[in-house]
Amino acid sequence: MSLSKAAQHFQESAIRRVGALGGSMPGLISLAAGYPSPEVFPWDDLQAITAQILARRDGNTLQYGATRGYRPLIEHLLANTLTARGISSRFDDVIITSGSQQGLDLVGRVLIDPGDPVIVELPAYSGAIAAFHNLQASLVGVPQDHEGIAIAAVDRVAAEVAKQGRPAKFVYVTPNFQNPAGLLMSARRRRELLEAARRNNLVILEDDPYGSIYFDDVTTFDDTRPMKADDRDGRVIYLGSFSKILVPGLRVAWMVAPPAIARKVELCKQAADISSGVFDQRMVHGALAGGVIDRIAPGLRAHYQAKRTVMEKALNANLKDRVKWTSPRGGFFLWIEMPGVDDRELFDRAIEQKVSFVPGSAFFVNGQGHEFARLSFSGITPDQIEQGISRLAAAFGS
Ligand SMILES: Cc1ncc(COP(=O)(O)O)c(C=O)c1O
Repeated sequence: MSLSKAAQHFQESAIRRVGALGGSMPGLISLAAGYPSPEVFPWDDLQAITAQILARRDGNTLQYGATRGYRPLIEHLLANTLTARGISSRFDDVIITSGSQQGLDLVGRVLIDPGDPVIVELPAYSGAIAAFHNLQASLVGVPQDHEGIAIAAVDRVAAEVAKQGRPAKFVYVTPNFQNPAGLLMSARRRRELLEAARRNNLVILEDDPYGSIYFDDVTTFDDTRPMKADDRDGRVIYLGSFSKILVPGLRVAWMVAPPAIARKVELCKQAADISSGVFDQRMVHGALAGGVIDRIAPGLRAHYQAKRTVMEKALNANLKDRVKWTSPRGGFFLWIEMPGVDDRELFDRAIEQKVSFVPGSAFFVNGQGHEFARLSFSGITPDQIEQGISRLAAAFGS
């Protein structure tokens, strides 16, 4: 058997690898898995929606569907969700994907040739790194400062790779409550990135699964306004997802792309999975059109904010002098800096204490990040958060 060159270098998602430990080690508390909390899943609503859909006995519900997606869902997104986010687009711009993870892969397939430079943040979501890596992109990291991706570094990297005859295919960013850094890119930085993209003729891949999970001090829509809303020259590809605001198990997400790219993505998706699950899409449509998502959103925000606060209190009580962090204003993650500590060594000691986290280096494409760790507060209970941080403190030692 001879594997393709690409397959020989496929990368396993560090998050899933570390997350899988939970199953094999009884009593382990996972601060690694960034899963939504099952406590806020709208079980009764989903049960009712399922019953309604099946009661109609509409053959199309359990049939193959259009590759673009379930039309009423796309139309609802266009008229409501996207409009509310300041994005005016047309039917031809939108494709439903099987999670935004598939969106990342499909965009990669449509734009990346082996060896093509792709610009990512330091740190960046490891699932995106894996998707682009598997397509043999040459990943180039640019640092963040407290406002987001560093523009001067984008300019420098874009100029360098262009000079070598291989312009960057796109720059990948998660402006809202980034996974892993929890960072909210400032409105000014978003404008600057759009300008830098114009200057350097770059496509922006904007990944926004956490934009609706904001906490109390995010008061104006401008704080989370997608760059896609200000995309005057069709260079932003925008990914949204129902995984965090409804449930991840339905695997329903969407992409808004310039029509020429959307058309190619559609062809690529046709070959990948024909269509995302029709039943799943109808359930999501039922939840959207029936107002379930709007109804549960405030409770969801309060839920995650309260857990964030529990984790910060526990860190202050146990590890105040050993770690630094910026309080996340939304999302699922707390990103800690641990001066003088190596993430891999800490990880081994943490496992002995029956607690896991994702080592920071998993999110860096340049081999760095060893003084960082991603702690997730989303999917576990407040008691587990407190226990987990106290075990982590034990792993730090005295
Ligand atoms: C930044 C980011 N992008 C994409 C995804 C994938 O989400 P989905 O469930 O929509 O595939 C995740 C999941 O954690 C994520 O954090």
